[in-house]
Amino acid sequence: MAPRRKSHDELRSARWYASGDLRGFGHRSRTRQMGFAAEDYAGKPVIAILNTWSDINPCHQHFRERAQAVKRGVLQAGGFPLEMPAMALGEVFMKPSTMMYRNLLAMESEELLRANPIDGVVLMGGCDKTVPALVMGATSMNLPAIFVPAGPMLRGHWQGKELGSGSDVWKYWAELRAGTIDDEDWRGIEDGIARSAGTCMTMGTASTMAAVTETLGLSLPGASSIPAVDSGHERMAAASGRRIVEMVWEDMRPRDLLTHAAFDNAVTALMALGGSTNAVIHLVAMAGRAGLSLPLERFDAISRRTPVLANIRPSGRYLMEDFFYAGGLSALLAQLGPLLDLGAGTVAGKTLGETIARARVYNDDVIRSPDRALQPEGGLAVLTGNLAPNGAVIKPSAMEPRLLRHRGPAVVFRDYNDLSRRIDDPALEVTAQSVLVLQHGGPQGGPGMPEWGQLPIPKKLLQQGVRDMLRISDARMSGTSYGACVLHVSPESYIGGPLALAQSGDVIELDVPGRRLTLAVEEAELVRRRAAWVAPQPRFRRSYGKLYGEHIGQAETGCDFDFLAGDAAVPEPEIH
Ligand code: FES
Repeated sequence: MAPRRKSHDELRSARWYASGDLRGFGHRSRTRQMGFAAEDYAGKPVIAILNTWSDINPCHQHFRERAQAVKRGVLQAGGFPLEMPAMALGEVFMKPSTMMYRNLLAMESEELLRANPIDGVVLMGGCDKTVPALVMGATSMNLPAIFVPAGPMLRGHWQGKELGSGSDVWKYWAELRAGTIDDEDWRGIEDGIARSAGTCMTMGTASTMAAVTETLGLSLPGASSIPAVDSGHERMAAASGRRIVEMVWEDMRPRDLLTHAAFDNAVTALMALGGSTNAVIHLVAMAGRAGLSLPLERFDAISRRTPVLANIRPSGRYLMEDFFYAGGLSALLAQLGPLLDLGAGTVAGKTLGETIARARVYNDDVIRSPDRALQPEGGLAVLTGNLAPNGAVIKPSAMEPRLLRHRGPAVVFRDYNDLSRRIDDPALEVTAQSVLVLQHGGPQGGPGMPEWGQLPIPKKLLQQGVRDMLRISDARMSGTSYGACVLHVSPESYIGGPLALAQSGDVIELDVPGRRLTLAVEEAELVRRRAAWVAPQPRFRRSYGKLYGEHIGQAETGCDFDFLAGDAAVPEPEIH
């Protein structure tokens, strides 16, 4: 049966435009001030284009042009497009971390939609936190919404080698410190690693979040894999503009799509992609906005049954351009068939199964079949134990397997400054067996859980040939990073979690197959240390930082603000 179509009178924007009172006059006359006649907008769905373009976000350089393509599509389908700028969250430049501002963009998105005469929205994001933030805000507002991902940038090149965003930065930074490349090489890498508009072209957080958002059903099929500068990207943007107008008439809203089945599908895709650990936090928060619980145990359970199929850095060898030419996300999902709920809905108005029915793999080294998986299971693993009672995350697909079970003495750094000061000190007592521990990297401690979790390997060990060792923190790490890094330890050290009690010389045990993380210190001694622990002062006394500090949740809750989480209805504004 065809979905019921809304009437013109039922458009949300009609509350602004159709009334005969003084306010209605003001809305119409000011729309005329912008050069639009009644034929442009009257009785048409008003489509917001939330655009996170900014001069300070290189990943979104092409978004001004793409917004024009979205507008073209909206106009073709009989809608009235209005571009509205939203906070850009440029991953590389914002300090201490864009994660501190994810909830601010989510709140901004929700309020822009709530306060204005909007019937549906096209969300334009890509650089890491912009994806969950836009989706979280749109889910809370629950107006028809479609996500247009920025798409990955072109491959990097240097001296005939392909370079991957982030992953090869960490790799060659270690080589520079080890003395195997020199400053001129390093400048060559600087020139060659970021060649076009678009997001990091490894399976970092941006590629991962775009893929899981498409899997949730919120983007047009295939959208997330298209390179940013491919002409297909502009066509996808226009098609999204056309489709959102139809979604308004059909009244298809985010919470119609964001079901438990859709989130299980998204987590399955995350694992098969060998995707970013950051996606765990974001998916928990996104589910929370839809009124759904997504506990860490669900990630672990799905990880144990899902093969890693995407041979993309940092877990594998290739880059996002290769993934696109190999068939992209649709082809990968088609490989996972029985592990997915193919009846889940999508913004295309088709089931997930229908959207991938014709997908094919064109390079089976890039997108593996389950019987030739990169790893039979375990894209990510969730750990618990007395060092992380509420959980921690590790990425087994991107670490040296010899460290999956490890026991060694801790070398503890009390914060990032302490780490920077001492990590390359020749006198630092550290061996390849040591466990590097960073405190004060969590939601409160960083603040904003900066991507410090891939602690640098001490220079003297690099010079001995060590390229991976066990590292533990309550911080996050870039999705482009790799190594035996235990992340998101919760509760965090800044609020007195057990990580705050770890001292240099303590023995720490990691057992990834057994999913355990243990501080091997007598309980009586831990009780003594806890009694002596002194809570730090709050970091902020005013402004957004104060709001953040008072309301931010821990990693396992998705780091949403307590007053933003949940699916309570957003009150419509009075129009008077
Ligand atoms: Fe923008 Fe990586 S810095 S996606």
